[in-house]
Amino acid sequence: MQIRNIGIVGAGLMGSGIAQVCAQAGYETAVCEATPELLQKGIGRLKRTLAGAVAKGKLEAGQAESIMGRIKGTADVQDLAQSDIVIEAISEDIDAKRRLFEALDAICPFHTIFASNTSSISIIRIATATQRPGRFVGLHFFNPVPVMKLVEVVRTLQTDDETVSAATAFVESLGKQPIHAKDRPGFIVNRLLIPYLLDSIRAYESGLASKEDIDAGMMLGCSHPMGPLTLLDYVGLDTTYSIANIMYDEFKDARYAPPVLLRQMVQVGHFGRKSGKGFFDYASA
Ligand code: CAA
Repeated sequence: MQIRNIGIVGAGLMGSGIAQVCAQAGYETAVCEATPELLQKGIGRLKRTLAGAVAKGKLEAGQAESIMGRIKGTADVQDLAQSDIVIEAISEDIDAKRRLFEALDAICPFHTIFASNTSSISIIRIATATQRPGRFVGLHFFNPVPVMKLVEVVRTLQTDDETVSAATAFVESLGKQPIHAKDRPGFIVNRLLIPYLLDSIRAYESGLASKEDIDAGMMLGCSHPMGPLTLLDYVGLDTTYSIANIMYDEFKDARYAPPVLLRQMVQVGHFGRKSGKGFFDYASA
């Protein structure tokens, strides 16, 4: 199974990062967004990241240009018909994901592998919208995609061996480290990370310590690059809330139950970095 052309749906933070690493690894990469405006925003983010790498001397200007030359933006999902693998990175909405893959199933040839970058939804719930569940995997990248080395490769009860091998080799060709997990909500990383992040909110909510000291504890005591409350702001409180709810619904385990403070912060729009305010303030950032 030769992978040459990549299709990516969604040019948000994750989709644009995935597009960058694919094009950087030499793949022809088509990126599809719902509207030209959203596409423009995603491509703009990608260009800024590459310009930053050029400014730091990590990339030649010519290399950045070649990378951009391999990326084709589109607002028409039909343009993904030539893809050998399509990676979906749209919002965590099961119905939207199923609708998208049902449409792609009619557009793409049967050899095309379908992958979802979902962080919490069971892959099989999406794969059953298609006639090719054997060629369907989870490929879960981490934020910021150009920096984070890991990709979780998730096989369902129906994913075939050839698809897992091809997806694993593809991840390695991006310079990333694949790890393999069964199709359980949260896979490996979020299964461990989400209870930890929620516990940090519970600790803060209970008055155990200040936000700064909770974060310093994990940064200086465990060498984490960010404390948990800063990481929550980075991932997005709305995103974390949605992941926690999906995992709680699935496992009915109190470890995944979102704390009241998280729900209330989401309700008032304190989503973290993206909204300018979360546990910390980013208004001037
Ligand atoms: N895109 C590209 N490169 C980026 C970047 C971005 N968005 N953000 C940072 N970088 C690069 C910088 O250019 C810099 O590169 P050089 O060292 O080559 O100059 C490097 O990363 C370090 O960045 P900074 O010096 O600006 O800042 P830092 O040292 O504080 O690192 C960080 C920033 C990489 C984000 C680091 O704090 C970190 O690793 N944080 C933890 C991130 C994490 O845990 N991510 C996983 C979240 S969970 C998830 O994604 C899954 C899910 O389902 C919820």
